[in-house]
Amino acid sequence: MKIYHSINDLQQALLLLRSKGLQIGFVPTMGALHNGHLQLVERCSHENSISVVSIFVNPTQFNDKKDLVNYPRTLEADCQLLETVGCDIVFAPTESEMYPEPDSRVFQFGALEQVMEGAFRPGHFNGVAQIVSKLFDAVLPDRAYFGEKDFQQLAIIQEMTRQLNYQIEIVPCPIVREADGLAMSSRNARLTAEQRKNAVQISQALFKSRTFAADKSVKEVIEFVVTTINEVPDLRVEYFEIVDAQTLQSIEDWSETENPVGCIAVFCGEVRLIDNLSYASRI
Ligand code: PAJ
Repeated sequence: MKIYHSINDLQQALLLLRSKGLQIGFVPTMGALHNGHLQLVERCSHENSISVVSIFVNPTQFNDKKDLVNYPRTLEADCQLLETVGCDIVFAPTESEMYPEPDSRVFQFGALEQVMEGAFRPGHFNGVAQIVSKLFDAVLPDRAYFGEKDFQQLAIIQEMTRQLNYQIEIVPCPIVREADGLAMSSRNARLTAEQRKNAVQISQALFKSRTFAADKSVKEVIEFVVTTINEVPDLRVEYFEIVDAQTLQSIEDWSETENPVGCIAVFCGEVRLIDNLSYASRI
């Protein structure tokens, strides 16, 4: 496994590999890797000759400076984990490498970016699009892998890929959960033992709500999820919306879409966690 810190070195290496006809798969990350990331990398390395993983905590997507400062940085441990799942190349640039000058590009994603994470984290998706487009330009992969854990991010990346005409296949990957159901996240490492115990109620409430939804309205399901989670000590729902999986716009009635997805953001103490669940089959 090779580690590059400069775009130039990375591109030289990839140029050579591409000239041999090798297909390149790419997994962008911010590091502090867990099994959720590793499953993306494993899949990437199975489906491509060369797998590239980037590790870069992107400052332009953090609307909360405290979150940026507290974001875990564990490059050495990350590289050790990546070796075990077939990663060939790690790209770990510095901030000045990615942003030699401030990036002033403003993306327009319309209604997709005006809801949920876009509404509660102003500028977040613009920062994501800035860095992912720069990473796509540097790596020029055939395929890029993104987790459904960040459901709205995936939709934004698909839209960005379309707008900028990247010839890159965007591969969505299912949410990886802890044994008790909590969605894996780098931020889980910041939870105290007590908070970790409470945080499991987020996914539990979502799972229960799918059964509850069988004979209930969208509004009743929303009330059920929000009330159940807010009753748990230390948990506070920021938003919970049931949206159409393509447009990400809220629905009021199940008949409005064949693919409803419930998307949630919850503060567990100071740590903000997100999760989502499909209601396509409500049983
Ligand atoms: P990060 O949060 O490190 O996530 C990197 C990738 O791993 C994303 O595609 C994310 O959806 C996926 N992922 C994280 N936890 C997951 C889980 N439990 N199950 C499945 N996939 C999971 O997302 C980012 O970084 C950044 O915004 C980035 C795209 C790298 C741009 O900076």
